[in-house]
Formats: sequence, C-alpha cells, structure tokens
Amino acid sequence: MARFPWHSLKRGMTRQRQFAAVILAAGKGTRMKSDVHKVLHPIAGRAMLDHLLGVLETLSPARKIVIVGSGREQVEGLVEARGGELVVQEQQLGTAHAVRMAEDRLAGFTGDVLILYGDTPLIEAETMARMLDRLHALDAPVAVVVGFRPADPLQYGRILAAADGTIEKMVEYKDASETERAVDLCNSGLMAARADDLFPLLARVGNANAAGEYYLPDIVMLALQDGRRSAVIEAEPWEMAGVNSRAELALVEAEWQRRRRLKAMADGVTLVAPDTVWFAHDTEIGRDTIVEPNVVFGPGVTIGERVMIKAFSHMEGARIADDARIGPYARLRPGAEIGEGAHIGNFVEVKQARLGKGAKANHLAYIGDAEIGAGANIGAGAITCNYDGYFKYRTVIGEGAFIGSNSALVAPVAIGKGALVGAGSVITRDVAEDAVALARGTQVDKPERARRFRETMAARKKS
Ligand code: UD1
Ligand code: CA
Repeated sequence: MARFPWHSLKRGMTRQRQFAAVILAAGKGTRMKSDVHKVLHPIAGRAMLDHLLGVLETLSPARKIVIVGSGREQVEGLVEARGGELVVQEQQLGTAHAVRMAEDRLAGFTGDVLILYGDTPLIEAETMARMLDRLHALDAPVAVVVGFRPADPLQYGRILAAADGTIEKMVEYKDASETERAVDLCNSGLMAARADDLFPLLARVGNANAAGEYYLPDIVMLALQDGRRSAVIEAEPWEMAGVNSRAELALVEAEWQRRRRLKAMADGVTLVAPDTVWFAHDTEIGRDTIVEPNVVFGPGVTIGERVMIKAFSHMEGARIADDARIGPYARLRPGAEIGEGAHIGNFVEVKQARLGKGAKANHLAYIGDAEIGAGANIGAGAITCNYDGYFKYRTVIGEGAFIGSNSALVAPVAIGKGALVGAGSVITRDVAEDAVALARGTQVDKPERARRFRETMAARKKS
C-alpha cells in the first residue's frame, strides 16, 4: 500500500507526546456466522487485527490495548506477539463502555488515545496521524472524529458539522430524525482524544437511547455542554469500510487488492490484467517483472527483477531470483527457491527445493525436498519421490545434470554433476559425476510381429 512519507511528522510528534491505541473488538460478529473471531478473518492472507497492529507499529504507539469479548483465547497469541495487551469486556454494552474498559490499564497515562475498530482494517497510518495532529491544532478540540461519505450511508451514525469541521451533533441512525438521516457525513467510529479528557467524559455517558447502549459519540455532546468543541476530519470511504459479514470481507479484500495492484504497477511491475492478479500482504516484486493474467501470490513470496510469470501460476513461500521464467500453470510451494534465469514450466510443482542458476524444469514435474544444481535440466514428468509415508528424504542433483523424461528419483539419492539419467528410469542408487544411469526394462523388438498379429485376429473375427 502507498506509504505516506510522514517520518518527519512522526519524529516531531513522538518527541512532544505519546499516544495509546485502543482497538475495539468485543462485538459478537454474529453476521460472520463463524467460529473464528471476526478480527482474525484474513485480508490478503493476514488477520484484520494484524493489519491494524502492523500499521499502528509504524507510528510507535506507547500502548496497544485490544478490547475483546468472547474468543479472547483466539486473539491472545497475535496480540502478545505484536506487543499489545488484551482487556476483556464481559458484556457488550456499547462503544463508550468498551473504551472505558481500557481506563484502568491507562491509569496515569496522560497522552492521546486513538480509538480504532478491529473490523475496520484498511485505515492507513497517514489518517491516524491526521487524527492526532488535528487533536493538537491551535483550536485544541476535545475529540477528533473521522467522518466519511459512503455511496450509501445506510445505518451509520450521522455527524452534523459546521463548514469548518466543528461538530454540532452526532446522532445514531436509530435515534435520528428524518432531516438528520438525510445528512451524508457518517461516523466511521474512529476517534482521538486526550486521556485526561476522554475517561472523565466516558464516565458521564448514559444509555437512555433507542439501543439502550453507551454510545461513544455521546462524549462529543457532553463536551459541548461544557462549552468545548470537537472536530471531524474526513477520510475516503474505502478506508473506513468495515467488515460485518463475509460479503463485506470480500469487498474489503477487493479494495485492498485494487490498491496493491496500483502500487505494483507504480513500482514498475507490468500486470497484463490487473484485476485477475491476487497479492498477499507481504508480496515483494522487482521492477520490469511481468505478471500475466490469473496469477495468485500467497504469503511469503519474493520476486526479483525482469521475472516472467505466466498465466495461472500459484505461489506461496517462494523466492524467485532475477530473470527467471515461471509458468504458465506453475505451482511454487513453501521453500521453493528459484535461481537466476531458471525456468519452471507448465504443471511443475516445487516445494522445499532450490534450483540453481539457469536450471530448467519445463514440463510436468514434481521437485520436492531437493537441491538442483545450476544449469541442470529436469525432463517432462520427472518426479522426486521424497516421501515413504513416514519420512521425507532429499534429492540432490549436480550442476548440469540431465534427468530424462518420466524418471522417478527415489530419495534419498544424489545425481552427480553432469550425469545423465535415461528417460523412464527409476533411480534408487546414487549416480556418479558424468555417468549415464539407465534403470528401466530393456526394449525387445520382434520384426513383422504386429502385422502377423493383425492378420490372425482379423481372420478369427470373420470366421
Ligand atoms: C458504531 C457507531 C456509529 C458508526 C458505526 C461505524 C456508536 C454508538 N455507533 O455503530 O455511529 O457509524 O460504528 O461502523 O459508536 N464494540 C465493542 N464493544 C461493544 C460494542 C461494540 O467492542 O460493546 C466494537 C465492535 O466489535 C466493533 C466496534 O466496536 O469493532 C463498533 O461496533 P458496532 O456494533 O459494529 O457499531 P455500531 O453500533 O453499529
Ligand atoms: Ca460494525
């Protein structure tokens, strides 16, 4: 995704003040119809919550507090790995109640609090920074709310604001009048406020409303009663897109992919049919690489420069060096390392195997748990038999070796440099450097035998 060059901003900011992030993720996520916690559903192969925590990391928050309801055991590992803290909200009494759950943890913390939603994963660092900066503008608003104008405002809460962004009222759809519902500036839910303002205001929020919930936006009205104003900043609708159902998960995925494709092209990668190429969160591709239609990058793929990736290839956990050629219909699985200028052709599967510079496996092969020397040639249909049902074994093929078509290399086995394995061989012993190995039935030739066979059979059928 486009990275905003705001490092200078960040340095200035961290010098002056700290912020804690509070991520709300205690909602039931009922509409996902899932046993998996909502925030663990993946976008581009990475849990939504991990996207958020990753983006947050670029701003060096002092604290990262995740509010969860049920399913705490599912998210614990990820939150801890990312240096965050979990707080349980036993009953989901509303967004204001959820944020209050962080109060004890933040006792004594006097910095800013950035409130995010675990199910709104596309928010960028630049927007988070804008929220915090707005909070410290000269007019010093009590709270900064992120608003957006979606194509269809649906049931979002509405923000009634003056032209200068000062908020006059925030109202939930359920509680809104017809005129208020007609306003198209919606509440994304994301907010920033100073800890010293936030928690005292939250303590005053009641639940006398249509939903009987403690609404976070109510702090804006409570502050107004004290004569203090809050401000709205706007973000693009795609960035504020939330995930409440599988259909919305797919929409957010589509948006992430759209932006990632644009970035790939901006970085000098040719995508022949961008809409058909699927990236993972960590895909790396060098310039002048060409990606043909219908290519899928799973997690952990790094690709060099000037690589040609032909149509319908699928890869994950693979490294591909400069000038290699992959596909069409290639499958690279975790641990595949394709050397410079090497060729992996149609219906070739590679797993835990390294191919040296210029090595080729152009058609219909399985290369697993193997080391293939530079310039070696693996024929059509060759297979490394790496598994006996219990253990895996390695195959080592020397530089410049030639493995004939439809050979089976029964691992553990080593083929020496420059050796030649005859087509159709089943190789069970090591082959020496520069040797020829043939391991197949000997050919038998019977002149005229086919003709005699046909004549005999035809006569038999007639009688
Ligand atoms: C909320 C906002 C609404 C806004 C919308 C944007 C309130 C009262 N309303 O609506 O103005 O337009 O988000 O999507 O804030 N959560 C908890 N604990 C709770 C309740 C919610 O952790 O007790 C979490 C959810 O997991 C979710 C987020 O807070 O991540 C928002 O909750 P949700 O119920 O989806 O928000 P709405 O009330 O629909
Ligand atoms: Ca929601």
